[in-house]
Amino acid sequence: MPVPQSLDPAYIPRHVAIIMDGNGRWAKSHNKPRLFGHKAGVDSVQKIVECAGEFGIEVLTLYAFSTENWKRPVDEVGGLMGLLKNYLQAELSKMLNNNIRLICIGNIKKLPQDVRDVLENTIKETAANDKLILNLALSYGGRAELIRGIKSIADKVRSGTLKSSEIDEGCIDRHLYTADIPDPDLLIRTGGEARLSNFLLWQASYAEIYFTDTMWPEFREKAFVDAIIEYQSRERRFGQTSAQLIKG
Ligand code: FPP
Repeated sequence: MPVPQSLDPAYIPRHVAIIMDGNGRWAKSHNKPRLFGHKAGVDSVQKIVECAGEFGIEVLTLYAFSTENWKRPVDEVGGLMGLLKNYLQAELSKMLNNNIRLICIGNIKKLPQDVRDVLENTIKETAANDKLILNLALSYGGRAELIRGIKSIADKVRSGTLKSSEIDEGCIDRHLYTADIPDPDLLIRTGGEARLSNFLLWQASYAEIYFTDTMWPEFREKAFVDAIIEYQSRERRFGQTSAQLIKG
């Protein structure tokens, strides 16, 4: 699948982050249980990962399971964990063939041991790949991530390995799960809600945000291309004036 003609190949976002919302409502609209929606959501994940690689996106971050999602019914949490494990097992060969590296952000110690084993194995097996980074946010929350980073900085200041005068944006970046990847350029939320829901709170400071009513199970190539077209049509000024940007 080549880069669609409707996209400017010179202005592809480096990092796209997605809040995959709407699986449950999509299932309900088809008179099916919620897990049916999550299964269809996995098909969208496969398709969007494929597109991201073809379009030349460097990092694709998917909000697959939030810190708040642990409060869902036990059956649904178990179902989601099973889908994640199956996905990782089924996709390993494709990740290796397509030069995709898997990483994750979040408190993965909370995941069931069998899921964690498969996850850690996939991370290890794909570590040398360098076309697309597929970053799964798992048991992830932006506030928890910031607390973890701030605690680590405080420990270093207390032990004398870091001066408080050295704490700047770069220092905070280096203490987040995302230390090794660029900030998202484009953040997409499907499912019709217009919230960040504790996702990449620090990192999304300058991201273009794109909300769509399309439910995640229906978010496929055309919807993804539309989001990138919208991104490409926006002027990104980082707080500067248009004239400053033209001057470079
Ligand atoms: C939100 O829909 C979606 C989730 C909480 C989970 C997303 C998970 C997947 C797409 C499948 C597993 C992921 C991978 C990477 C294999 P919702 O249930 O909140 O929908 P609703 O708002 O309509 O109820």
